[in-house]
This record gives sequence, structure tokens and C-alpha cells, in this order.
Amino acid sequence: MDQAPIRLGVNIDHVATLRRLRDTPYPDIVEAARAVLAGGADQITVHLREDRRHIVDSDVARLKRELDADVNLEMAATEEMHDIAVALHPHSICIVPEKREERTTEGGLDFSSAARNRLYETIARDASEYGILPVFFVEPDPEHLEMSARLGARGVELHTGALCLAHQAGDSDGLEAEWARVVQAVRVGRDLGLSIHAGHGIDYEIAPRLATIEGIREYNIGHAIVCEAVFVGLEEATRRMKALLTKGT
Ligand code: PXP
Repeated sequence: MDQAPIRLGVNIDHVATLRRLRDTPYPDIVEAARAVLAGGADQITVHLREDRRHIVDSDVARLKRELDADVNLEMAATEEMHDIAVALHPHSICIVPEKREERTTEGGLDFSSAARNRLYETIARDASEYGILPVFFVEPDPEHLEMSARLGARGVELHTGALCLAHQAGDSDGLEAEWARVVQAVRVGRDLGLSIHAGHGIDYEIAPRLATIEGIREYNIGHAIVCEAVFVGLEEATRRMKALLTKGT
């Protein structure tokens, strides 16, 4: 039985997306972070994309400077992001694949290139040396988890997008297949000694079901919480999600 309490990271990229829609000085990213922390978030998750389409460098710096909270920096495996991570020193980094034309992160990391794998390894090693937890965003595939451990990841965030989409579409066969993949990945990851996280597409319906999978230590959730916040505010939207994830644990 995993005794560690679950952690909720709230991804506030969409708050910056609203700001970008009109290039206004509001909504303020630090105020948004304060609201989700008040609602029980354990960390602030932001994705500093290479095109800076929502979160910008100064947002991450302000989150670090103005708040006493863990920041989880999602980033592509590039030298630029490596240097930013080392300089800003977040609690954790989550290395994600990034394509300019995508609306959001589409898949887990691609381990098919030796050169790219070396870059993952360098970033993971340097992060560990600087006291930053290196996490890889991966498909729930045992080989990808083994590769992550070999390259120095200390945690993996399992891509739950396909599972959540199957659930939303009422595709029970798809859901069952994805569920089995995630359950197996959690087991493999724990055997490898990795911290197991989950993220992408998680909404208020699937959250309590995911929470029944023993061994997932952390969830990073953005879109559903910001959507709920339209009706109840960020603090309450976070509180409701945290309650669903911690029920019964
Ligand atoms: N985890 C990772 C690695 C992501 O790229 C994203 C999307 O930015 C999330 C979690 C949050 O996903 P969602 O917004 O669908 O909850």
C-alpha cells in the first residue's frame, strides 16, 4: 500500500492563454497560482513552450520568486530549456515532446533517436545534480518506462490522454484497453523505483476512477480545472478536483 499522499499539480497555462488572446496584462499568473494553492494544489505546473504561446519566461521567474510553492516546469528537451531550468531551479521538470503545430502535447517522448536520448540523459543528469526532480512524459508502455529509468529519469508522467478520450467518447473497449496499459505501466514503473505521475485530459469524471489505481503519486491537470473555474473560480475548481483524487486514499 502506497502511504504517500497524492499530489495535485494544477497546470495554469490556460490562464496565460487568456492573457495572450488580447495581449492584456491580466489575468495575472501569480494570482492564479495563489488561487489554486488556496484550493489545495500541491504544485504549480507550467509549460514554457519554445514558441512562448502562453507561459513566458518572466511568468516562471515570478512564480519562483513570489511564491513559496513547488513549480513543475514542463519543457522540450532542448539546450535552451536545459539552461532555463538550471537557472530557474523548479522543483521538478517534466520533459515533453513538442511540435509547433500541435494544440497541446500530443504523445509521450520518442525514444527512437540515439542523439535525442543522449539529450534526455544529459538534461536528467544535470537536473538531478541541481536538485531538480527529472520526470519524463511517456506513453504507458513498459519499454518506455524502462528506457526512462535507464536515461536517468527519477519519475515518469504517464500520458493519460488516450484513456481520457476513450472515457469521454463512451468507448468502453478503448477505455478497458487503455486502463490495462496504465495499470501495467504503474506496476512496471514502481518496480523500477520511479515516481509515478499521470497527466493529460483528466477531467472530473475520470479523476476519482484514476485515483483507485494504487501507486500514482501525482496528477497534473489543467484544462478541466480551468474550464470548471469559469463557473466556480479557480480555488473551488481545484478544491473539487483534489477532493476527488484523495477520496478513499
Ligand atoms: N501533463 C503534460 C505533460 C501536459 O503537456 C499537459 C498539457 O499541457 C498536462 C499534463 C495537462 O493536461 P490537461 O490540460 O489536458 O489537463
